[in-house]
This record gives sequence, structure tokens and C-alpha cells, in this order.
Amino acid sequence: MTPRPRVFVTRTLPGDAVDELARHAEAEVWPGGLPPPYDALASHVAGADAVICLLTDRIDAALIAGAPRLRAISNVAVGYDNIDVAAATARGIPVGNTPGVLTEATADLAFALILAAARRISEAERYVRDGRWRTWDPNLLLGMELHGATIGIVGMGKIGRAVARRAAGFGMRIVYASRGDAEGAPGARMPLDALLRAADIVTLHAPLTDETRGMIGEHELRSMKPAALLINTARGAMVDQAALARALNEGWIAGAGLDVADPEPVPAGDPLLAAPNLVLLPHIGSATVATRTRMAAMAVENCLAALRGDRMPHCVNPRVYG
Ligand code: DGY
Repeated sequence: MTPRPRVFVTRTLPGDAVDELARHAEAEVWPGGLPPPYDALASHVAGADAVICLLTDRIDAALIAGAPRLRAISNVAVGYDNIDVAAATARGIPVGNTPGVLTEATADLAFALILAAARRISEAERYVRDGRWRTWDPNLLLGMELHGATIGIVGMGKIGRAVARRAAGFGMRIVYASRGDAEGAPGARMPLDALLRAADIVTLHAPLTDETRGMIGEHELRSMKPAALLINTARGAMVDQAALARALNEGWIAGAGLDVADPEPVPAGDPLLAAPNLVLLPHIGSATVATRTRMAAMAVENCLAALRGDRMPHCVNPRVYG
């Protein structure tokens, strides 16, 4: 009898995806709520036929080189900037991700941040809980009206378009910048620098790549309107966080809403944690029961397909199939 393939799963996953995996493979799940340290990750993957990993796991060229049996890398995320895809491709290893299923949940969270930053929700809640609410006040906690405001969507892929649909419902004017094909997208396409000058709210929905890393730095923040808001539900490394902390402290822009940071979590003492008018969340864009359950199931489907010798249903490096 041929031995069952060994799959290392780097964290407990929601739903019954791992039960399904265990019907076809020897599944080893890293216990606890924290990612395996890099050395532990490398030593577990070294003997595995496949790894099901998260955006917190660095799957680099050295780790791949040290895993001679590895036949599948399956990320429980749509983003895959944690994986050296070129190194995997060079070895003929398919890399899977989970596109589509988290589009609506992530767009919802982007809008939650837009509303929270525009209407100063966190600040208002702290005001009540701190016992400072004395009376209705015509000057209290005035924020930005979304109706009629211009939203600047950076990256008009699936999530960008889902944000645009919500923005249309709020009566906002839509402008966007996109490197890819944006056929049929709503709103006016423009270069990033024009978008930064035009938008009341700039919201990031591009993948993290060499081109997008650090794309919002001091120059870009200073190009935005002083009353504008920056929203990031994509990847923290797209924004120069030190520049953002200064932008908020010195009033170059009016506020920000971040679901992502670099690194995650934001280290204690980082100036960002003390910046005013900032709503900061712990990377929960896709965190609904339905979406996370589906992401785990898709990651297992990708993994099992590769182990059977079939094409991964969602493969980011289809070149491996020739
Ligand atoms: C992703 O999938 O890339 C998100 O950041 C986490 O859901």
C-alpha cells in the first residue's frame, strides 16, 4: 500500500476542512494560536508532501529547497506575498490561493473603516464610555459626509469593484487607478497622482508586489487633500507607516482606517499607535464565519487536487502545468 501523503497545516482552521484533508492524507496541524516560528515551519515542511499555510508563514526559497518531497503549497488567503512563487515555480510546485470568496467580506470591512473614519466612530464611542458625553452639541464630533464625496479606489480588481458597488449605493463619485485591465469598471480612471489629489477617501485594493510596496509614502500623503482619509485593507507594506504617522500627527490628511500593518501586529511604541484620527484593526477583512470556512475548504481542495496529480482549482503559477 502506498503511504498517505503528509500535509503540514500551519494553524487550526475553521470548519471541517481539516477533517476532509485527514480522509485523504496524514494531516499534522500546528497547535495553538500563534504561527510556527520559521525554523519549526521549515523543519515540519522539510518532510511534508504539501503545506497549507497562512499569510503569517514565510515560505521562502530556502524553505522550499529544504523540502525535497514538497508537491503543493496552498495558502489560506487570496494574497500570496508570503510565498516565493518564483522558487516554487522553478521546482514545478503549484501554489494555491483563495480568490473570490473573500471579496464581499473584505469590501464590507473596507466600508466599515470608511464609515468609522469618516464619522469618527471609535473616537465617539470612547467619548461616551469615558463619561464625557454631557449633552447634544451642534459642534460635537463633526465628520465627513459620504454622500457626494469622491472615493478613490486604488486597484480595480474583484475587491475594488465590490467597494465601488457599495460606494455607488452611498451616492459617492468614483474615481480609480488600476494597473490591470479594468474593463467595464464604474467611475473615472486616472493616474494615481491625479486620484490622490481628487479623492476625499483613498482606499487601497491592490496586491502587494514589488511595484506596490511603499506606494503610499510622504509624497503621496502630501498630495492628498488635508480633509481626506486613507483606508487600507490590502497589505500594510503598501504604505510607509512612519510617513502616515507623521501625516496624521501633522494634519497632512484628516484620518485613516487600517486593517493591515507592517509588521503585524504593530509593535508597542510604534508612533502609529499614538497617531490621532486612526482606526486600527487586526487584519480581519475576511473574518466572517462563512468566508473563513470557505477559504479553509478551498485551500484543502487546492492541496488535495495537487496531491492527486490534478490541476489546482485556484493556482497562482499555472506555468507549472506547462
Ligand atoms: C487575504 O486573503 O489575502 C487576506 O488578507 C486575508 O483574508
